[in-house]
Amino acid sequence: MQIKGSVVVITGAASGIGEAAAKSLAAAGAKVVLGDISEERLQTITAEIKSAHGEADFKVVNVTNEEDVKAFMQFAKERFGKINVVLACAGIIRDSFFVTPDRETGKVKKFMSTEQWQQVIDVNLTGVFLTLREAVIEMVNNKWDGVLIPISSINKAGELGQLNYASTKAALALWPKILAGEFHARQIKNIRIASVAPGYVATPILSAMKPEVLQSIINAIPIGRLIETDEVIKTLKFIIENNAVHATTIEVAGGIISKGLAK
Ligand SMILES: NC(=O)c1ccc[n+]([C@@H]2O[C@H](COP(=O)([O-])OP(=O)(O)OC[C@H]3O[C@@H](n4cnc5c(N)ncnc54)[C@H](O)[C@@H]3O)[C@@H](O)[C@H]2O)c1
Repeated sequence: MQIKGSVVVITGAASGIGEAAAKSLAAAGAKVVLGDISEERLQTITAEIKSAHGEADFKVVNVTNEEDVKAFMQFAKERFGKINVVLACAGIIRDSFFVTPDRETGKVKKFMSTEQWQQVIDVNLTGVFLTLREAVIEMVNNKWDGVLIPISSINKAGELGQLNYASTKAALALWPKILAGEFHARQIKNIRIASVAPGYVATPILSAMKPEVLQSIINAIPIGRLIETDEVIKTLKFIIENNAVHATTIEVAGGIISKGLAK
């Protein structure tokens, strides 16, 4: 699919990977529709894109809310006439060990709260489910060519303290296999799906991490640094432009090492 002229809807577009994707794809000639919970940032970023002569508009959307997601897709359709690419970037972390016993008493003093568990499931899993489903309904009904790109993570392989997050990202790496199979079984030939599994990317999501934890992570990345958003964006563009990329997950992780092995 050509980027130029395609309509791209992006959730989580107010920051990090989603923001960088919106700017880069608009610069390449796509019409971008930005969605996020942060209205102020959406306004600023959309204005920046327009002042660089890009075509863009935004709508506040909480991806965990079904009516919001439906309204977001309707907005994109009304604003630019179609939906071609879906970048489901909205995502959060709420890290905690499952249980942590007190060193002295041996009794559990902390555990992953139901709230920490549920918030991550709601945004990273249900949010992506709703985003993809509402876009696919429109793509099928209108026979628009479509590409779906959920953002997984290298931590789909598992990470301590991320039972919630890693569970969602493992699922998102699996979905291209299931959905490509379902589309094939239902004779839906106009939609491709491929996810991207980034390693640790230099974006605000990492600000929730303790500096010493982040440094130990960087020490385990063979390329010696965090991944740049631009390196993820190049992969998104590759997926959009290459019509044979389907039913797969592409890792962009700098070869990160875990327990002596690349994940
Ligand atoms: N940065 C990394 O190291 C990294 C690595 C692997 C995967 N990822 C994934 O990439 C995606 C983007 O991450 P990022 O690094 O750009 O993070 P980020 O924190 O910079 O951006 C995430 C955006 O999602 C938005 N968001 C959160 N909850 C939302 C909701 N309910 N509805 C709509 N928007 C919501 C936030 O407001 C924010 O603008 C996430 O899914 C993340 O899990 C990031």
